[in-house]
Amino acid sequence: MSLDIIILAAGQGTRMRSALPKVLHPVAGKSMLGHVIDTARQLQPQSIQVVIGHGAEAVRERLAADDLNFVLQSEQLGTGHAVAQALPALSAERVLILYGDVPLIEVETLQRLLQQVGPRQLGLLTVDLLDPTGYGRIVRDDQAVVLAIVEHKDATPAQRAICEGNTGILAVPGKLLADWLGRLSNSNAQGEYYLTDVIAMAVADGLVVATEQANDEMEVLGANDRMQLAQLERHYQYRAARRLMAQGVTLRDPARFDVRGEVTVGRDVLIDVNVILEGRVIIEDNVQIGPNCVIKDSILRQGAQVKANSHLDGAELGAGSDCGPFARLRPGTVLGAKAHVGNFVELKNAQLGDGAKAGHLSYLGDAVIGARTNIGAGTITCNYDGANKFKTVMGEDVFIGSNSSLVAPLMLGDKTTTGAGSVITADVPANTLAVGRAKQRNIEGWKRPTKK
Ligand code: UD1
Ligand code: CA
Repeated sequence: MSLDIIILAAGQGTRMRSALPKVLHPVAGKSMLGHVIDTARQLQPQSIQVVIGHGAEAVRERLAADDLNFVLQSEQLGTGHAVAQALPALSAERVLILYGDVPLIEVETLQRLLQQVGPRQLGLLTVDLLDPTGYGRIVRDDQAVVLAIVEHKDATPAQRAICEGNTGILAVPGKLLADWLGRLSNSNAQGEYYLTDVIAMAVADGLVVATEQANDEMEVLGANDRMQLAQLERHYQYRAARRLMAQGVTLRDPARFDVRGEVTVGRDVLIDVNVILEGRVIIEDNVQIGPNCVIKDSILRQGAQVKANSHLDGAELGAGSDCGPFARLRPGTVLGAKAHVGNFVELKNAQLGDGAKAGHLSYLGDAVIGARTNIGAGTITCNYDGANKFKTVMGEDVFIGSNSSLVAPLMLGDKTTTGAGSVITADVPANTLAVGRAKQRNIEGWKRPTKK
């Protein structure tokens, strides 16, 4: 059966106290609305309608995509009014209604809900709550047949005692929706056109309202303020942590671990506390990541080790290689198998061959460094003249003395050596020692200045 999805995202979100529209606030590095859109896509609907209002231009700009149709609701007159704005664009047999500020809703739950929809039946997602204050209540008869939803503000004391709350998520037969929405009135406590009133209409029309339960409250929680946003974030991270642990990762503390993107993991991976994984990160078997590391868009091959406080962005670590503590690997860094990068070393657009080493305090940019080459402490590639970037190419088994300045463009052949403290400005042929520094003078009997 065909499916249209409507995502309501027009509300203001006053309690966020933010210039950013509420639905653009991030959970796990992605806007709440972005999460909902990605979940909607997994259901392969024939259309996705996003109803926007407050901050409409910012929302449209941020999320524009070929498969989304943005519908403007210029005045927020209620959830029923919001859905009505999308009606002209609908044609599928089923319509599913989601919310841009309810980001953790799961595909599997929505699939269950959609299975309930038929020509004479709709599906309503409800949740049992300890404290249902603020939620619409599900009113059932003594046979537990759903009769209506009553909003908190319109509910009698007896109805307020009902703990089954309306999540707002609803799947209905498309044909009947226009008729119901056309009959909504706003004579209620909030003066709004309530989407929830379609339930009683459907019942009056002889339809069955089938309910499904959300897995837990967090799955259907909307973020109205920054505290709720933080709760959603933690819950998302807990879910992500649990998934990775199920795949064979040891997390020293799942409560101190954050994923902001897509992570692929192998087995027997060890991740210490306060690690943040961003973008697309691929972690192969037996990788170890020390505490306080940020790893973005990177690939860590089998057995690689990232030691404490390292920052990786766009890096690839070869099998058995290691970096850190305090390594900074910037985009275009490729470490060969068993290569070693030590503390306070920065690499950018640089390849370190198999078994090559840069142990301490270096900047290596726009460089290709051969296998087993050793970069002494304090070595700097001078790759930038203030206008253009130049490349440093080193062969295999090179030995760069400590504190060498390598002024690019530069080629160093296999097995070359540079003397410590050298400024190397010219290419060095293979098997050669290059020394580029002033010769030492010893001045005998030199008197230190004295204080006047
Ligand atoms: C709604 C439900 C309530 C349910 C609760 C769950 C109605 C009438 N009530 O109440 O039964 O328990 O959600 O959280 O539907 N929106 C628009 N345009 C509008 C009004 C709302 O886009 O004109 C969007 C808001 O941005 C928000 C969502 O719809 O994302 C819900 O609106 P809100 O006014 O917060 O409804 P609730 O009072 O929470
Ligand atoms: Ca709400």
